[in-house]
Amino acid sequence: MRILSPAKINLHLRIGPLASDGFHPLMSWMCTTGLHDMLEFEPAQDDRIELICDQADIPTDPSNLIIRAAEALRNDAGKRLGARIQLRKKIPMGGGLGGGSSNAATTLLALNQVWQLGLSNARLAELSAKLGSDVPFFFHGSSSVCTGRGQHVIPIAPPAAKYAVLALPPISMPTPAVYRRFDDMKLGSLEAITHQPDWASWIGLPAHQLLPLLLNDLETPSFAISPELGKLRGQLEHILGRIVRMSGSGSTLFTLFDNKTEAIAGTEAVLNSGVIAQAVSLAPMGNYTFMAPNVLEQIADNW
Ligand code: C5P
Repeated sequence: MRILSPAKINLHLRIGPLASDGFHPLMSWMCTTGLHDMLEFEPAQDDRIELICDQADIPTDPSNLIIRAAEALRNDAGKRLGARIQLRKKIPMGGGLGGGSSNAATTLLALNQVWQLGLSNARLAELSAKLGSDVPFFFHGSSSVCTGRGQHVIPIAPPAAKYAVLALPPISMPTPAVYRRFDDMKLGSLEAITHQPDWASWIGLPAHQLLPLLLNDLETPSFAISPELGKLRGQLEHILGRIVRMSGSGSTLFTLFDNKTEAIAGTEAVLNSGVIAQAVSLAPMGNYTFMAPNVLEQIADNW
């Protein structure tokens, strides 16, 4: 079974103060993108869970969330099950694009079928929350508002601005360090996460009206850790003539466009400045949880 595992971006990310569970309550509008990894699953004859990746720098041991997701599902089933999993990796690690989380969600969905366990999506989402704060998002559709640690997910319509340009600097931002710096800088207010924007109006806005409303509270600590990333954001805003935001804890930077032609022109401009960039569609499968195998063909055509 082959499934595409999409990257996400945080269009809007507000963070509250550190809570007693060691995590920060948040409120985020997240969207899947046309950038994806490809995963292939086969049942094994024995109880080995084996991961093979096309890129040598990606760990294939239990530090990879794919293995942890497979083991969590197998433990829940209480059966001796094995699988051979192949990963074709395109989503950069440490980029704030949720690649590892997406791979974990995809693994739960796929092995539930391959192993014929019959768990509901709700149960899989529940299991997934233990693997990471961003994992439950991937069970609920392609454009959603996430609250709590990220485990409360409410789908909303995708944005009218259908395209993003992702700038992918060669900087890996470790999420725990970014949150620690956030705490050191005494950032985070409850007001930021309890006040919900008027999503119904936000989703209908063209890119140039939506961009000034979007915030990411992790930009300040990330740019404090990596001043060159903050500087790059300024340069890209100058080159593109529009607001550029960071996704998650970085280092991916993005901006939005209403149409494909503009997004491709924006990508060329970023590439010409020497930064790796890619134009992607946002929420390419509309309201679908677009990892479902029966929509694979449609996704493959849809960058
Ligand atoms: O859940 P995830 O594995 O993505 O979290 C990585 C780290 O980021 C956590 O160990 C925690 O330090 C921090 N984090 C947080 N609050 C969140 C999400 C993550 O403090 N809502």
